[in-house]
Amino acid sequence: MEKIIIVGPSSQLLAMKTAKEMKVKAIDCDFKTFPDGETYLRINVESEEEIKGKEVIIIQSTNANVTGGQSKQFFDLFNIIGAVRRMNAGKIKVVVPYFAYGRQDKVFRPGECKFAQELCKMIENAGADEFYSIDIHNPEILEVFKIPSHNLDPMKYISEYMKKNLDIKDPIVVSPDKGAKQRSTDFAKHFGDNVAVEVFEKTRDVVTGEIKMSGELKVKGMDVIISDDIIATGGTMASAIEISKKSGARRVFAVGTHPLLIKNAVSRIMRAGTDVIIGTDTIDNPVPLVSMAKLLADNL
Ligand code: R5P
Repeated sequence: MEKIIIVGPSSQLLAMKTAKEMKVKAIDCDFKTFPDGETYLRINVESEEEIKGKEVIIIQSTNANVTGGQSKQFFDLFNIIGAVRRMNAGKIKVVVPYFAYGRQDKVFRPGECKFAQELCKMIENAGADEFYSIDIHNPEILEVFKIPSHNLDPMKYISEYMKKNLDIKDPIVVSPDKGAKQRSTDFAKHFGDNVAVEVFEKTRDVVTGEIKMSGELKVKGMDVIISDDIIATGGTMASAIEISKKSGARRVFAVGTHPLLIKNAVSRIMRAGTDVIIGTDTIDNPVPLVSMAKLLADNL
């Protein structure tokens, strides 16, 4: 079946790069907001025959920094899936490179909504045949899907970039909290067989969102790599960097697959003492980016 990529409004760079990598046709979208606030979106085809019978790959991230915010990006996605289904696509693969709401996966306080799981159901109900994301916050939410679903691992690509460009010596990987320990352990293996992992104690107030972090690190003179899935306000990263620096780290690299970098997150993290922030293009950003186009092309 011939493959084509639909370039979602919030993944223009990554979708175009992936199409180039896969050597397939990319079709973008026209979109606007009506004066009353409603959304208009049209997939840029001359004839609906261009979609009929094709394997259609929709790439649409859910970036808080794009106009309308992450909920609007999901809303657009559901409508794109619906339109592609109506045009009789042969198969629909949906790629959400950064899956927003992934942290709302549990009931922390009575009455809360599990947005993460509900969104998975909505993607399937909209008409997806297969689902992909990258470094999703809690891969267990994918169990909600009845269709095949995949959480792609970006670590090989990020570590290759770092080894090539950053002259890393005597590395140690630091996990900002217990939940990220397995991620950090997997990441460390890319830097050598004996690269150690240290883990912080992090607690977050479920009402205010305030974080507290503690722990002592044996990192004197070492290159510390702090790896997290998401960097949002930068609070977690800044605290981890400060403790690493106080513990005598030579250099500290802040790595986040999804660098949301809300408000003053960049200056907050830099001020804490990092040498460089590294992210990926699951969302568009101003920090040095490792492209996920090859990861997607290898898996789609
Ligand atoms: C939480 O469990 C996530 O993995 C990240 O640590 C968190 O989302 C980072 O958020 P912030 O940058 O606002 O501290």
